[in-house]
Amino acid sequence: MSIIEEAVRKSAEQRRRGQAEPQAGRRPTRRVTAAPAPDAASARRFRSLALDPQTLEHGRIISHLNDEGARRAYKILRTRVLRRLQTNQWNAFAVTGVSPGEGKTLTAINLALALAQDINTWVFLIDLDLERPRIAEYLGIGGAGAKGLSDYLDGRADLEDIAYSPGIVERLAVIPNFEHMPQSSELLTSPRMLELMQALEAETPRRIVIADMPPILAADHVLAFAPQVDGVLLVVGEGTTERDALRSAKEVLAEMNLVGVVLNRASERNEYAYYSYSAAS
Ligand SMILES: Nc1ncnc2c1ncn2[C@@H]1O[C@H](COP(=O)(O)OP(=O)(O)OP(=O)(O)O)[C@@H](O)[C@H]1O
Ligand SMILES: [Mg+2]
Repeated sequence: MSIIEEAVRKSAEQRRRGQAEPQAGRRPTRRVTAAPAPDAASARRFRSLALDPQTLEHGRIISHLNDEGARRAYKILRTRVLRRLQTNQWNAFAVTGVSPGEGKTLTAINLALALAQDINTWVFLIDLDLERPRIAEYLGIGGAGAKGLSDYLDGRADLEDIAYSPGIVERLAVIPNFEHMPQSSELLTSPRMLELMQALEAETPRRIVIADMPPILAADHVLAFAPQVDGVLLVVGEGTTERDALRSAKEVLAEMNLVGVVLNRASERNEYAYYSYSAAS
């Protein structure tokens, strides 16, 4: 049975049971302390941004998406991911996939937004697809003098210079990247990158950190960065992900915790469709 079939089967099973189960047989969680209760008053506000509604609508960003079914599906995805994170006491994960163009970035953005719409949940969304950074384009962040991840990694900026509060949801902060950085896996394990991850984790209230990353098979980026996150959320594109590629990805995935599998562009449109989510391994 392929991962897709397995994901769909387990997704249906979970829907019947009404809850996700803790993941058994995986490597131990990175940390064991429970997240403190959110305290909105103490939360840092980052550089405020006014985003262009047309850009968001064009990019299919959930806050401006006129599709009730899609919005509902993202909420279901949010609830399942949240439960999964809480059960395992995880708070940082990478969104990845097997091949290009499966919807990783759109899923990462919309899931970050959906999570931040939950009143108890604060989120950092960071663009770690160093070779094909797209978050800034999707959200329309940029303009003269805008600083992003590459400025931080070069030591030309601090966290407060590169983190943006897009204003759609108070509890979301975005760290975009404006610079294409080829052959860059070393940057993901550089002391400066680790410093950034520590800074994100030190924020109060504690935030869920979502890293948008390239496909697993494209390079060693996800594998190199894996120690910095608790797990990966795998986006599988219905009709775009090839089975052979999925099989090859399985070996790499075996070394990581799986937050879940998202079947993007699910053709079956019922109240759960658009995304089909599974905590399948
Ligand atoms: N569920 C969806 N419904 C409609 N369009 C979608 C959906 N998911 C993604 N797309 C579209 O597919 C294209 C690729 O999406 P996205 O950039 O999120 O993919 P990606 O996996 O991040 O690509 P890359 O491998 O280049 O980083 C975009 O034009 C996006 O708007
Ligand atoms: Mg992408």
